[in-house]
Amino acid sequence: MNHIREGKEISGQREFVRLSLSLRIQHMALFSSVLVLIVTGLPQKYAYTSVSQLFFRIVGGVVVSGIIHRVAAGVLIGVGVYHMFYVVLTREGRSLFRDLLPTLKDFGDVGRNVLYFFGFAKERARFGRFSYLEKFDYWAVYWGMVIMICSGLMLWFHEHVLQVIPKLWLDIAREAHSDEALLATLAIFIWHFYNVHFNPSRFPMSMTWWTGKISEEEMMRDHPLEYQRIIAEESQTVKKHVSQGSMLEGADTNESSYNQEEKGTGKGEVSPDVSSSADAPQIIDGATG
Ligand code: HEM
Repeated sequence: MNHIREGKEISGQREFVRLSLSLRIQHMALFSSVLVLIVTGLPQKYAYTSVSQLFFRIVGGVVVSGIIHRVAAGVLIGVGVYHMFYVVLTREGRSLFRDLLPTLKDFGDVGRNVLYFFGFAKERARFGRFSYLEKFDYWAVYWGMVIMICSGLMLWFHEHVLQVIPKLWLDIAREAHSDEALLATLAIFIWHFYNVHFNPSRFPMSMTWWTGKISEEEMMRDHPLEYQRIIAEESQTVKKHVSQGSMLEGADTNESSYNQEEKGTGKGEVSPDVSSSADAPQIIDGATG
């Protein structure tokens, strides 16, 4: 119980940086361009409806809507290309990509949560930096973007495309573009919005997309294994400083590979006792109830 209380006392004083500025800007460019693409694309798909007719009248016609669609497509392509470079050329990007790769544990986590939701397991799965839900989000967008960009470019430059491939392929591209657009729209508004807006623990919205930060309480609840790893790493750093004869206050916790920020006077409050990796799960279990 002591650990649970201490865990709650600490929460609210410390925050962890979950999304760097680069990731936040990539995410903002991604969601603004995708929203514009949905708003200008779907009226084309359902052009026969009165809502679409109204939309085209408001924006100034089908041609204008098509131009806006192409501008937003340019932004989406820009984000995609930038993300490729970010993942290949930066250490932060490589680490992100590695942590987003599916592992056997993810499949085990799905099974465990299914058992938990049906009442056959006492505890739900405990996640590291990314849960299987977040990984699924990332890879769905990844492959969605590949399909939308490839098929969109074929539609955009159809005159050139038709000189090298039969029309059947262009028809398939149009079908893929059109159907994937609907699938992406539903996935965003049902799956993604539930996870980041309508989930009772996040309602009305997780602000991480804007601040990049996550509270210690959220960290313990949603990413307990990652929290445990950071705390253990901190503990090692503190022990190293102590064994080197440094003062405890002088120990710079920013040596942790994970970015973290502390508000108020939280610095130095995590004692090696509380933060040992063996103790951390007790804090987490208590927080999750
Ligand atoms: C998430 C992203 C996107 C969504 C949701 C989306 C949605 C749509 C939809 C629903 C249509 C109408 C299809 C139909 O007639 O059945 C369409 C058409 C089209 N899209 Fe996209 N699109 C996206 C990305 C792109 C990209 C990246 C490009 C270009 C590289 C692109 C270029 C086009 C073109 C050229 C058309 C043909 C209509 C026109 O000439 O304006 N789209 N899009």
